[in-house]
Amino acid sequence: MAIRKAVITAAGWGTRFLPATKAQPKETLPLVDKPIIQYVIEEAVASGISQIVIVTAGGKRAIEDHFDRSPELEMVLERKGDLKNLQVIRRVSELADICYLRQKQQLGLGHAILSTRPVIGDEPFAVFLPDDLIDWHVPAMRQMIDVYDKLEQSLVAVEKIGREETSKYGIIDPQPVSERVFRVLDLVEKPAPADAPSDLGIVGRYILTPEIYDMLEKTPPGRGGEIQLTDGLKGLLSLQNIYAYQFEGTRYDTGNPLGFLIASVEYALRREDIGPAFRAYLEKLLQS
Ligand code: G1P
Repeated sequence: MAIRKAVITAAGWGTRFLPATKAQPKETLPLVDKPIIQYVIEEAVASGISQIVIVTAGGKRAIEDHFDRSPELEMVLERKGDLKNLQVIRRVSELADICYLRQKQQLGLGHAILSTRPVIGDEPFAVFLPDDLIDWHVPAMRQMIDVYDKLEQSLVAVEKIGREETSKYGIIDPQPVSERVFRVLDLVEKPAPADAPSDLGIVGRYILTPEIYDMLEKTPPGRGGEIQLTDGLKGLLSLQNIYAYQFEGTRYDTGNPLGFLIASVEYALRREDIGPAFRAYLEKLLQS
């Protein structure tokens, strides 16, 4: 069955980015001039998905406002004759068909996914964790869907990470199947380096079969007292095969200040309008 729907989880506290995220959703922090979550929705749309469920929580209203129409701002821009910006903001509100689901208790990623069951129903779906941005000429989720179409089993995106970083990621025990594709023999959420079954870490893109919901219902709180998606997937292994795909592209972790700065600099340098001036400034700065 084709992947038509995507879940974007945006209910987290953003504690790695305080105090900026005290009153502002981390998903709306801008890379240059576009909120992070808009890049993720653009990836979904470019991958052929147009029905999107965003899981939010208290304090995240700015996300809904961003993707809504803004008649007053449109009127102001129209009056000023600023057709360029008018087009920019109209396009944002027409990007995709988005619905919002508010998680009343933040009990973990697995719990957030479980809360989407009534909206997703009985079909495979994509999941995006918006901290992770992946840049490549073929969108990462499009690459995943192409692999899913052949295997029709749950699929997690993975990347080689440093051995010392295993405690930041879900880690898979991989069995190579074909170029960039692995069968997952086991998964562990954030193990210490000595306990990690490999150096392939899960990155925030998944395609899940609907059987994950029954598994998440049964999954007890795990690491950090949270219901972990990784644990739900481990349960799913008893029913179905799960695969991992080592995507092509550069991944940026925008959920912490250093990763965010790296992404900001790279995205700014690539811009046609401000890129050249920014490069000249950086070169001068580094020489001094
Ligand atoms: C979550 C998942 C983890 C995965 C990571 C990718 O962790 O639980 O398995 O590797 O996303 O970004 P988080 O970073 O939300 O703590």
